[in-house]
Amino acid sequence: MKNLHIPAICVHAYGGPEQLHLEEIPVPVPAKDEVLIKVVASGVNPIDWKLREGLKQHPLPFIPGVEASGIVTAIGEGVFGLKTGDEVYGAVDGSYAAYAIAPAVQLFRKPMSLSFEEAAAMGGAKTAWGALFDVGHLAKGQRILIHAGAGGVGLFAVQLAYNAGAYVIATASPENMDFVAGLGASEVIDYKAAPFETQVDPVDIVLDTVGGDTTLRSMSVLKSGGQLLCLVGLPDPEQAAAAGIHAVWAGTKTVAAMKEVHKMLERDLIKPYVRKVFQPLSQAAAAQEYSKSNGPGRGKIVLKISEE
Ligand SMILES: NC(=O)c1ccc[n+]([C@@H]2O[C@H](COP(=O)([O-])OP(=O)(O)OC[C@H]3O[C@@H](n4cnc5c(N)ncnc54)[C@H](OP(=O)(O)O)[C@@H]3O)[C@@H](O)[C@H]2O)c1
Repeated sequence: MKNLHIPAICVHAYGGPEQLHLEEIPVPVPAKDEVLIKVVASGVNPIDWKLREGLKQHPLPFIPGVEASGIVTAIGEGVFGLKTGDEVYGAVDGSYAAYAIAPAVQLFRKPMSLSFEEAAAMGGAKTAWGALFDVGHLAKGQRILIHAGAGGVGLFAVQLAYNAGAYVIATASPENMDFVAGLGASEVIDYKAAPFETQVDPVDIVLDTVGGDTTLRSMSVLKSGGQLLCLVGLPDPEQAAAAGIHAVWAGTKTVAAMKEVHKMLERDLIKPYVRKVFQPLSQAAAAQEYSKSNGPGRGKIVLKISEE
């Protein structure tokens, strides 16, 4: 593969979708403990367009994408347990490219039952796990409100909280209410019909995947001493203290969390859901704009990059 060039989306300056340039780059070479994969599908995460816009800083230039599925094509020194030809998915930085490198520990074998598109849609699971269990220490019998139960993170949070024996309440648009109930929510709140805080009895934990006004209004539905797990932004600490709640940043991503969700996937306890597939790689801008529009929808947006 040396001296070969591959197509990749490159961002050289922060800005709009016009900053996503389809270019040819040298094929990356895996270092120690790393694996090169042929990317079949990349998840499209809201962080992708936030980084492109400079809302969160990322060194320039960069290739967007944080999660993918694909086929192992080369392995670096010290990698055990994976071999050329293995079908994998996991956390892959720079996944908007025909080939990408990832640490071997961040890759997991794709179950045969999942398509590559579905496997690329798994990224929100580790986020949900980290927030609910590593940060929130969610326990059986606790009442939890999960915002955006049909979203890329929320749909896994509902399934994981249900499996943990929590009483799950989730918000969704009317067209997604049955879907979210099917994931394990005991109550689904149509947040468009009336403010969610008028429709829910006090809860122990809120998982906030929406931010803004939703973060502030969530404080009023928590029991005294309850936890607001934030994945978008934190409220003013003084406001949280006045409300008698704990607001914490819950955006952790650990290999341990990935292992836990992989085990649950293999046991068929959780399932990804693909909202829309864009293809080929040149559709990256359209995929990010669709993600940013935050319109009604369920599941994960996926960018299909190559045929398996
Ligand atoms: N994905 C990750 O791994 C990750 C990691 C850390 C942080 N985050 C952050 O978490 C946030 C959510 O990520 P995501 O991947 O879940 O996004 P997403 O899949 O794009 O979420 C979109 C969903 O949000 C719902 N929604 C929109 N406005 C809402 C509101 N006011 N109340 C309730 N639901 C609402 C919509 O559901 P309906 O159609 O039912 O209205 C839509 O399906 C993003 O800001 C992201 O940056 C994500």
